[in-house]
Amino acid sequence: IALPLLDRFGRRHTKLRVSVTDRCNLRCRYCMPAEGIPVAPRDELLTFEEIERVVRIAASVGVTQVRLTGGEPLVRKGLEVLVAKLARLPGVEDLALSTNAVLLDEHAESLRAAGLKRVNISLDALDPTVFKELTRRDDYQRVVAGIAAARRVGFDPIKVNVVSLRGVTESEVVPFGCFARDTGLEVRFIEYMPLDASSAWERGRVLFAADIRRALEESIQPLVPVTEPTGSPATEYTFADGVGRIGFIPTVSQPFCASCDRFRLTADGKLRSCLFSLDEVDLREPLRSGASDEVIEERVEELIRQAIRDKGPGHEINTDHFVQPLRTMSSIGG
Ligand code: GTP
Ligand code: 5AD
Ligand code: SF4
Repeated sequence: IALPLLDRFGRRHTKLRVSVTDRCNLRCRYCMPAEGIPVAPRDELLTFEEIERVVRIAASVGVTQVRLTGGEPLVRKGLEVLVAKLARLPGVEDLALSTNAVLLDEHAESLRAAGLKRVNISLDALDPTVFKELTRRDDYQRVVAGIAAARRVGFDPIKVNVVSLRGVTESEVVPFGCFARDTGLEVRFIEYMPLDASSAWERGRVLFAADIRRALEESIQPLVPVTEPTGSPATEYTFADGVGRIGFIPTVSQPFCASCDRFRLTADGKLRSCLFSLDEVDLREPLRSGASDEVIEERVEELIRQAIRDKGPGHEINTDHFVQPLRTMSSIGG
């Protein structure tokens, strides 16, 4: 049995987040400028076969959960083909997708048939005007259709990820609380992190989990913690009457770095041990080296171990020496 992926702090890494593209069909203000950011040329993206190979090797050293991200993963053509490949890999117990749902109506059924287990949907506003203002696109109805399709084809659970911005989305908090109660979908509020292209992040723009919780409790009812372990970085609650599940991902006010269990593969084939890593480990070159399968596989496994071994303790957003990575969330993978 292979040794697990332990880092210097004793954290075991069982989750791999795979970005399949750095392109996105929205232009969320907290992530990208209106004109977008330069994207990698096609030949620099890992092929589905290359991604499958990396995931197979990762699974052989203890990765059990794989999440596909982007950019927006559904803009990558034929994503179902990759899902089918990954779903049948030994050791991959959970295969999930994080998507903005703009294209989900068209794909929900085929993704589910291909073996996708779960979807998390990013939606930062329920008010169509605020949605358009935030995303710079008029796709609110498509997202609503995407969520409906995900429910119709039976994805369960479906979590809705809400990045919250002070001064912008306060008005969305209570509607999202009601939405969680009405739909039974888990709504998770995420604190805005400094990963945007324009480096516009300021602490004053973070809407903290504690403030959101207070607003929900004042307007709806008290929240009680979910006690069973969930395996998610979110702190989860239900409303006191048992209706409606709410999560908080307090990435800034209460980072989950000390129990971090995840690492990333970017669309262009770099391993990142942390969302905020300042350096990366390239897998594309060894994958394309032309060496024998055995040599490539040994090399990739060793590089994965090296990336985890060199992982730092966590992000330093709350210190005065924080350095923002050069890549943005859309090119790292959300
Ligand atoms: P579940 O297994 O369903 O809980 O998935 P998840 O929450 O791990 O994945 P998802 O893609 O839904 O991520 C939700 C949010 O958590 C993202 O929008 C990020 O803001 C944040 N997040 C995800 N991964 C990391 C990470 O490695 N570090 C930090 N600081 N935040 C992360
Ligand atoms: N801070 C927090 N979350 C972010 N996301 C994108 N950029 C940021 C940021 N700067 C979220 C997306 C999506 C998830 C994958 O990452 O909205 O929910
Ligand atoms: Fe893990 Fe880095 Fe995210 Fe902290 S910031 S939870 S160490 S990936």
